[in-house]
Amino acid sequence: MAAADEVIGAQVAASLVALAPTLRLTTARLVLRRLDARDESVAIAHEQDRRIMRWIRDPQPLDAILARTQSLLSPWTGEAGAFLAMAVTLRDDDAMLGIVVARFASIVDLTMEVGYRLHPDAHRKGYAFEAMSRWIEFLCAEMSVRKLTAWVAAPNEPSWRLVEKLGFSLEATLREHTRLGGEWVDERVYGLLARERRDATN
Ligand SMILES: CC(C)(COP(=O)(O)OP(=O)(O)OC[C@H]1O[C@@H](n2cnc3c(N)ncnc32)[C@H](O)[C@@H]1OP(=O)(O)O)[C@@H](O)C(=O)NCCC(=O)NCCS
Repeated sequence: MAAADEVIGAQVAASLVALAPTLRLTTARLVLRRLDARDESVAIAHEQDRRIMRWIRDPQPLDAILARTQSLLSPWTGEAGAFLAMAVTLRDDDAMLGIVVARFASIVDLTMEVGYRLHPDAHRKGYAFEAMSRWIEFLCAEMSVRKLTAWVAAPNEPSWRLVEKLGFSLEATLREHTRLGGEWVDERVYGLLARERRDATN
């Protein structure tokens, strides 16, 4: 690995860490702002809502849910594996509808994994597509992340249809990879290269 890649990766990660506390992105209808203490009770309720979490993870003990929520609310350090979580709200209502997240898979390779989830009352209005389009633009075009991945349980058709609509390509299907609801389910790994996205939008 060239030393230059390490320097560039560290610079991008440092910029993102510096921006994170005050990060605020807008779309026609939505605001993406840093998840914070005002969102705590809703974030916990979403983690406990099986309609939201069915294809993400099995029911968790309360202490695990509280710890996970605290880590999403805590200052983001940029270290590989730690999620940067943004609350998604309407422009004229600060209540969070859900979150979009990203975490470095590799800082030196400038690869990040993204995720998203919204309350069912907000589904099928185009909000996830709108929020994720802005999130991807920010990460790839404004922060120079080189590649994004999205991991989707194969039965989660709304999610893989969403990433396909966002321009991700199916790169692998990991067979019987994740245990959900007592069954082994396939995991679809999707990828989006920033350079391909640039070419497609130019
Ligand atoms: C996946 C999820 C975020 C989609 O959110 P959404 O706001 O309803 O999605 P949008 O309205 O922006 O739809 C965008 C595209 O996603 C796909 N889609 C969304 N819901 C769908 C559904 N119920 N069935 C099939 N496709 C669906 C469609 O391709 C849609 O485009 P179209 O409207 O042109 O057909 C939402 O279903 C969700 O929060 N699910 C629970 C959490 C979750 O599973 N997160 C992903 C973990 S990998």
